[in-house]
Amino acid sequence: MNARQSAQDLPENAVAQHIEPPDGSEAIRPEPSNLFEDNPVRFDVLRELEGENILGVGQFSFEQVTELCKLAAILEEVEIWPYHPLDGKIAVTAFFEASTRTRTSFESAVLRLDGKVISIADGGTTGQAKGESLADIGEMFNAYADLIIMRHTRTDSLEQILQSLRIPLINAGNGSGEHPTQALADWFALLKWKPGLAAPRAPGAEKLELGILGTPGSMRAVKSFLLMALLFQAHIGKVTVISEMADPFGEDVTEQLKDAGIDYEVSNDVREHLPGLDVIYMNSIAFLGDSYRNLDARFKLDAGSPIKDSAVILHPLARLDELDTSLDKTHHNLYWSQAHGAVFIRQALLMAVLGRLDALPDLNEIEGQPRAGR
Ligand code: CP
Repeated sequence: MNARQSAQDLPENAVAQHIEPPDGSEAIRPEPSNLFEDNPVRFDVLRELEGENILGVGQFSFEQVTELCKLAAILEEVEIWPYHPLDGKIAVTAFFEASTRTRTSFESAVLRLDGKVISIADGGTTGQAKGESLADIGEMFNAYADLIIMRHTRTDSLEQILQSLRIPLINAGNGSGEHPTQALADWFALLKWKPGLAAPRAPGAEKLELGILGTPGSMRAVKSFLLMALLFQAHIGKVTVISEMADPFGEDVTEQLKDAGIDYEVSNDVREHLPGLDVIYMNSIAFLGDSYRNLDARFKLDAGSPIKDSAVILHPLARLDELDTSLDKTHHNLYWSQAHGAVFIRQALLMAVLGRLDALPDLNEIEGQPRAGR
């Protein structure tokens, strides 16, 4: 029996990549094994992603998201690099907009899988500075790498580079469009916290009340989180979107909400809704045109806010003053787990897209391997 059929019996000496919170902090770090114990990964589902572009949340099925999360949970528990899953593969990270987390966690994911990275941390250093088109840049990338991970300020950047790109593209954020791998990281954190979300809802099981502070129509992380929530709607009582905008969705999101039949409400009153929410998703920064704008600073949360005792807070980060540091050491903090877990969900996605799932080792074989970090 190997990891592909049975992931529940991890060796006792497996090195956890999982990072614990600092001493004195009650921040939540759900155990990854919560998610895959007695629930083996379905590799047939993950193979559907081989060779695919990852452009938006709408392309994922419920099963693809949950199986990616289960595989990510295993990768969080087992040191995988000695098996060289991405040996011989090269990824380009092409970032035409600033990033702390997405680029470095993708690069960490590739390196931990023993692949190689060509890192373009500042797209301004490419021929774009001389007026080169993304289509021409894409034609070059075909020859240099096996996969492109791109962030761009322009919402239409995906269409532009796809005019010529013939290797898989992962969207790492396109203007006010989408941020699909952020949504995977968000739901990975939630599924570790509530593993029941990864299965059909049991009769009588509680439904979550989701609150989103932000504007899905112009904030890509918020939009992708909300669209992925539609896949989990059997587990969701209601989504409350708290925004300064009267219509925070935009036409396409409104249509998708209506088609999905999810119960949702729009409000601009944070304090009225906070006490009833189980999950609070915050975002403050939108990329609009060629500048950042802090949309929701007045919707500030701190340790004194009237939050349900069992509620958790997510934030894609970077944060400004809307998410006070007084929350960092509280048991509401799921945002560090969300950010740290991004490496593992991105590892799972890279292995699936690059067709390297068969590189996963036999768990018995793992037991005898050195465990030391790099
Ligand atoms: N969450 C996120 O996209 O963060 P960065 O902008 O730092 O990549």
